[in-house]
Amino acid sequence: MLRRPRRNRQSASIRAMVEETTVTVNDFIYPMFVMEGNNLATEVKSMPGIFRYSLDKLLEELAQVSDLGIPSIALFPQLPEEKKDKYATESHRTGSLYLEAIAAIKHKYPHIAIMSDVAMDPYSSDGHDGIVENGTIINDETLVVLGKMALAQAQAGADIVGPSDMMDGRVGYIRQVLDEAGYTNVAIMAYSAKYASAFYGPFRDALDSAPKFGDKKTYQMNPANVREALVEAELDYAEGADFLMVKPALAYLDVIKTLHDNFNIPIAAYNVSGEYAMVKAAAQHGWLDGTKTMIESLTAIKRAGAKVILTYFAKEFALL
Ligand code: PBG
Repeated sequence: MLRRPRRNRQSASIRAMVEETTVTVNDFIYPMFVMEGNNLATEVKSMPGIFRYSLDKLLEELAQVSDLGIPSIALFPQLPEEKKDKYATESHRTGSLYLEAIAAIKHKYPHIAIMSDVAMDPYSSDGHDGIVENGTIINDETLVVLGKMALAQAQAGADIVGPSDMMDGRVGYIRQVLDEAGYTNVAIMAYSAKYASAFYGPFRDALDSAPKFGDKKTYQMNPANVREALVEAELDYAEGADFLMVKPALAYLDVIKTLHDNFNIPIAAYNVSGEYAMVKAAAQHGWLDGTKTMIESLTAIKRAGAKVILTYFAKEFALL
């Protein structure tokens, strides 16, 4: 035998040398949840190790995140029902918890890149990512709300805005609003191929943001489609997106690879709440080695072509 591939696997040093993909803390964006109140940290039941923090506690927790060298966080707000309405007005109200949180984090940890979430659902009494009219999610009127939200977040200090709503034309609309207000340096990470997925369940528990009726299939993508992801990505690229994201990650590695092979801007992948919950639940039962499964999953996401990984494992990985 002339070719013996096992020669390159025979020792840890050779394996390290020929390793093609190495995940580092630099790749991560750590999603975090902020809620009202003082001195509060409540664990999300379906996401062991992940907490919703009041702002004071979040700022404390960020000291460790910062020390661990995690370069970026994605922040999501949990709102009480009485702050929600049809038009998500709380999303762009001066002095709202979310905007205050962005400003406070930026002030205390200026080197952490803050990615904000641009979508109506945490603020919507309908639990949808767009304005609901007669049972339909309407597109163009929603863009106006998204523009106000993105601008308010940029003003508060967000470095990257992340439209996660899947409305048509939102990247271009937001880019124009930001540029006209002078925020030409605020980046856009487009949730380009965001699928209508069952893997978001634990996240909706964390934020109480499940749709009050129906599902999100008229705006999020059908899990069966990959060519459609190219259509979405082409639009987002043309509209000025700085990053293209695929979400979820593990069941969509082919989509990550497709975008990676077709676009020369960084590809991101969102290793979502349900993917985290599955590993944690199995590990708690002793059915999987949680740490090894985490490393293997993150490596696979990067190998598929994601340079940036949004993951609830960021801190655990950084602590290894
Ligand atoms: C909604 C949004 C969702 C997530 C991020 N932003 C859920 C949804 O579309 O219902 C999910 C993240 C996760 O599951 O970790 N704009």
